[in-house]
Amino acid sequence: MRPNNLENYWMPFTSNRDFKADPRMIVSADGMYYKSSDGRDILDGTAGLWCVNAGHAHPKIVEAVSTAVRTLDYAPGFNFGHDGAFELSNRLAHMFPENINHFFFTNSGSEAVDSALKIALAYHRCKGNGTKTRLIGRERGYHGVGFGGISVGGLVKNRMYFGSLLNGVDHMRHTHDPVRNGFSRGEVEYGCELAEDLERLVALHDASTIAAVIVEPVAGSTGVLPPPKGYLKRLREICDAHDILLIFDEVITAFGRLGCMTAAEYFDVEPDIITCAKGLTSGVVPMGGVAVQDKIYQTMMDNADAPIELFHGYTYSGHPLATAAALASLDAYAEDGMFENARALSKPWADAAHALKGVKHVTDIRTIGLVAGIELESRPGAPGARAYDVMKACWEKGLMVRVTGDVLAFSPPLIINELEIEQLFATTASVLNTIP
Ligand SMILES: Cc1ncc(COP(=O)(O)O)c(C=O)c1O
Repeated sequence: MRPNNLENYWMPFTSNRDFKADPRMIVSADGMYYKSSDGRDILDGTAGLWCVNAGHAHPKIVEAVSTAVRTLDYAPGFNFGHDGAFELSNRLAHMFPENINHFFFTNSGSEAVDSALKIALAYHRCKGNGTKTRLIGRERGYHGVGFGGISVGGLVKNRMYFGSLLNGVDHMRHTHDPVRNGFSRGEVEYGCELAEDLERLVALHDASTIAAVIVEPVAGSTGVLPPPKGYLKRLREICDAHDILLIFDEVITAFGRLGCMTAAEYFDVEPDIITCAKGLTSGVVPMGGVAVQDKIYQTMMDNADAPIELFHGYTYSGHPLATAAALASLDAYAEDGMFENARALSKPWADAAHALKGVKHVTDIRTIGLVAGIELESRPGAPGARAYDVMKACWEKGLMVRVTGDVLAFSPPLIINELEIEQLFATTASVLNTIP
């Protein structure tokens, strides 16, 4: 077969020049493993991109999607319906927090975030609070790559190239404090007081101008930052006091990553809106969702000034293949006890990760649920270069690792076992010892 010319495809969030000089090509996947183009098994330490929670090629999901494409390949979501979208919403309503029973579907986490921000603005306007238009995010936040998401997001490289972004956005400080919270397990001890930043922004802008605050309950893409104890609860209190909507961006945390359905459940804090994607379909078909409290949906239904209550939607909202993949993923999670497995393994997972304390280059380790962030000392003048080299060397040794800056981020499929956990961290440690 003629090898592909690699130049035509512009790869996302990738150093195209470096990749194309020395490509890492994947040809198939099954269970916990990818297969590389040179025939090697690669342990998936990252569930793809935090999404393949049920493991690769789960027979139930494969079967459901195959049947769906033969039965109903596409159905328009505007003015027409199909059972899958309604059944999925019914099922999710039973699994999401008590007052969150309404679901708007998108094709990705980025679209879920931008949809959630628009819903927040439309809700306040519909309620007669049209001055509530300001959106609050947080430094180091990642909320996808739409203009809404990068505006409330707090990662400088994702923002600095793209103009002036949305007006009327402000940010709280991030919660990363390795000096006080180094080598942490679960929620970190210090930093609850940073939630008071929201009160300061209320004092600065006035609550009558603020629509919503959005945070990742566990920040992922910035390098795995579990929240300080009490921080999310305090945000909830401040939002309640000022009629500000609290949005949890659960694109990486929903669907079992912390051993339960949502981070809202894990931390026992109910937000007004949850954005999700990734594990919703176990990554098999692109899909995202915005889950909203009854009060939001009902306000829009009761007070909308036009027959269409929300002027927003996507050609592929509730796509039949996506809903089939999502329904089968929910079955797979439940029938195979995957959230229970994630819960049961979170201690051996944390033990194995923290055993890398003292290994060359390691400056911090943070774990929660089936997530681990291992922070490395940066090379002088070359932030991110060392972790990038580790990622490449791990690939050569049969392990897929995700890097973000100089943090190695691990988030395996929820079907992982203790032997694979050992293999994952042993490979990482051996690579760290060889990397300059
Ligand atoms: C918290 C969070 N929000 C949004 C997104 C964007 O999702 P997508 O890449 O599906 O657009 C991500 C992706 O990693 C994420 O981690």
